[in-house]
Amino acid sequence: MIHIEPTGAPCGAVVTGIDLTQPLDADSLTRLRRAWLEHHVLIYPDQSLEPPQFEAFVEQFGPIADDPYIKPLPGQKRIAAIQRRADETGAIFADVWHADWSFKEVPPSGTFLYGITIPPQGGDTLFCNEQMAAAAMPDELRARVRDLVGIHSARKAYSRTGGKYADYKGSMQVATSDDADAEVTHDILRQHPESGAEGLFAGSYLLDVIGLSEDAAAEIIAEVNAWVQRPEFVYAHKWAPDMLVQWDNRAVLHKATGGFEGYDRLLHRLTIEDDPRYHVSAA
Ligand SMILES: [Fe+2]
Repeated sequence: MIHIEPTGAPCGAVVTGIDLTQPLDADSLTRLRRAWLEHHVLIYPDQSLEPPQFEAFVEQFGPIADDPYIKPLPGQKRIAAIQRRADETGAIFADVWHADWSFKEVPPSGTFLYGITIPPQGGDTLFCNEQMAAAAMPDELRARVRDLVGIHSARKAYSRTGGKYADYKGSMQVATSDDADAEVTHDILRQHPESGAEGLFAGSYLLDVIGLSEDAAAEIIAEVNAWVQRPEFVYAHKWAPDMLVQWDNRAVLHKATGGFEGYDRLLHRLTIEDDPRYHVSAA
């Protein structure tokens, strides 16, 4: 019997009473999808997933997407590794707030991370609830962002020249590309593509705003990012081995953290396309 227990934090719910190696019946899948739309982050502890089982579970929520700048594991088509060796000393990968691949025209709806080697301390993943932040936003800020269209690009992270990861030497399999200079637009205050709930779509790939000067754009982007990242909208997720986490990139930003120097860390990752054929109406 599936049990869904909210974390009590600004987002997240823990799902138990389920074996993810088994296919979901239609009612269970709908229930999980609705819980995902409501809580934005689903946490499944104590699962035992080999790569084919991981893919089979994920595919029930949408077609598995290609990751543009992270290479898959050797021998895998799609599963990528989020990894760091005990002796690595460079910057932590993805330690800035972002929605995965928000520089795509249709960003991936979901990211799934499965914990394999988890250090005894540190390495929390932080999530902030964009919808809660939008609902609590001061009227004055709302009036300023209401009609703004943001420009998202991967260039500061993955451009071959000048991207943060252009000279990356760590154990993540990062692939920089000239494609990273491309730009797409998303409304900053926008409706969730599936539930319709209003949220603030920001993060580190939001680089500019249409119709504003460089300074004015930088100022409002900094203000929106500071607002959504306020502690009252943040859930700090603690990992355990054999734990799967499924988050909604359309409703939360996330950020990696360090604090596990001297320990290996390995998680497997998949993303899914936001395919409307998989959508359910919100509960
Ligand atoms: Fe990410």
